[in-house]
Amino acid sequence: MRDFFAEELEALRKRALDRHLREISSAQGPEVVIAGRHFINFSSNDYLGLANDPRLREAAASAFDEFGVGAGASRLISGTQSPHLRLERALAKWKGTEAALCFSSGYAAALGTIPALVTKNDVILLDKLCHASLIDGAKLSGTVLRVFPHNHVGKLESHLEWARREHPGKRVLIITESVFSMDGDLAPLRELVQLKKQFGALLMLDEAHAIGVIGLNGRGLAAAENVSEEVDVQMGTLSKALGASGGYICGSRTLIEWLINRARSFIYSTALPPGIAAAALAAVDFLASPEGEERKLLLWQKIRLTHELLPGGGLNRKSNAASSAIFPWIVGDEQAALDLASALQREGFLVPAIRYPSVAKGAARLRITVTASHKEDQIRALGAAIKKMTKHE
Ligand SMILES: Cc1ncc(COP(=O)(O)O)c(C=O)c1O
Repeated sequence: MRDFFAEELEALRKRALDRHLREISSAQGPEVVIAGRHFINFSSNDYLGLANDPRLREAAASAFDEFGVGAGASRLISGTQSPHLRLERALAKWKGTEAALCFSSGYAAALGTIPALVTKNDVILLDKLCHASLIDGAKLSGTVLRVFPHNHVGKLESHLEWARREHPGKRVLIITESVFSMDGDLAPLRELVQLKKQFGALLMLDEAHAIGVIGLNGRGLAAAENVSEEVDVQMGTLSKALGASGGYICGSRTLIEWLINRARSFIYSTALPPGIAAAALAAVDFLASPEGEERKLLLWQKIRLTHELLPGGGLNRKSNAASSAIFPWIVGDEQAALDLASALQREGFLVPAIRYPSVAKGAARLRITVTASHKEDQIRALGAAIKKMTKHE
């Protein structure tokens, strides 16, 4: 029989789009071990260095002791254990919403939530650079989907006018991210809120890369811009700055009750392991504390230093000031991005090459992420290595 997969893999390889797993034989942190060699890790979303924090490890260990490893069933059957409910109460309190709901991942949160928010003839308006989970959730909903150019408020407004004209009386859902995962820039949230109010639309905001990074106690961009009440659906993940695993939706009590009844990735999937829920709760408690705020400020010291040290004021940054912990170095060509990642790896740095379909074809890049746990020397060394490489480009 013809081996279709081998042929397709070969085609991927020819376009420098093949992907491979890499075995990390250490915990997450600013340094990781691959094949016995230590690398300085600028590839992780563990922005606050919590993934291997003793508070989270102890919370997980003690919940695993008390509740066992697996949740045993979906949340609506018998999978809801005390750590899940404690976590949801803490999330709602921290985010300042009436209620919260946890999912097994951020991806599952998007996939379950978006189709529950709209029906077939409603309209979704999605930012062009939204994460795959939001795109997939929007596609799965089977509703009318329009994409607006990245952060283009004018185009969004004309899409909203179009929706009002062509789909009168239908629900319109605007979906965007607060910090864009591959570019690190911010959504113009206040302007989006203005538009959503003007057109009576719903707004869903994915705060995956803003949580723990932006706003007082890392509550995210909606809180920082003081528009939380206007963001109907606040999505986030427990898997990045919170150092654990899982996703969440925060919002009104009726929204959460509706999702419990309609979000299929919530209903038909086993609950988060209780130890993971307990670890995420420890992370939320930490972030909400003065010590958590200090850690976030420490992260910002590292972000500013990175911005200062990368050539061109932060490579291809769109503005003069750093806006998040993500620094894209846009190279364009896929093979060139792979080559640069390999060259950095030879120098002892782990920086991933991001290629299509994670970003557009011809927009390949290195995605540098900095965390609160990086030492200044490590950031300086990366800056020097990149400067040397860009001189020879
Ligand atoms: C913007 C954004 N949303 C959602 C997710 C999915 O979150 P999780 O990794 O928890 O599934 C990611 C993760 O890569 C992301 O970058």
